[in-house]
Amino acid sequence: MDKPVAYILNGPNLNLLGSREPAIYGNESLADIEVSTRNRASELGLSLVFRQSNSEGAIVDWVQEAHSKAAGLIINPGAYTHTSIAIHDALIAAALPKIEIHLSNIHAREAFRRKSLTASAVDGLIIGFGAAGYGLALEALRNLIDKRG
Ligand code: DQA
Repeated sequence: MDKPVAYILNGPNLNLLGSREPAIYGNESLADIEVSTRNRASELGLSLVFRQSNSEGAIVDWVQEAHSKAAGLIINPGAYTHTSIAIHDALIAAALPKIEIHLSNIHAREAFRRKSLTASAVDGLIIGFGAAGYGLALEALRNLIDKRG
């Protein structure tokens, strides 16, 4: 049987991980995170699509694509978390298990980061565990996929 497909979508400026504010986001690059997340996906029996874009429209397109092609979705919308009704609406329309992830604890930072417009459109959130959060999110997604059969 084919492995269930998990989409991991990363939003703006996450391509700069490793050099961008390492005290907040850590020293691992997005490529490093992709490698460790691919290893975890294969341990969990998931096939992984891992992408990043700085463009809100691309992320909306990919959420729509995940709706037809994936068994589950993990998204770090970056700063669009706090602004994007379009990504919120795309997530609502995508009827599959969904998890929002943030490297940093957005609730312990500036006031404008404490509100997530996308959080109400997902099943659960993994926040503040740095790069390790991606593996934790995959594990949680695998549980959700299994529960929904
Ligand atoms: C982030 C938190 C956002 O507030 C910020 O704009 C990001 C990264 C995180 O992973 O901690 O770009 O999503």
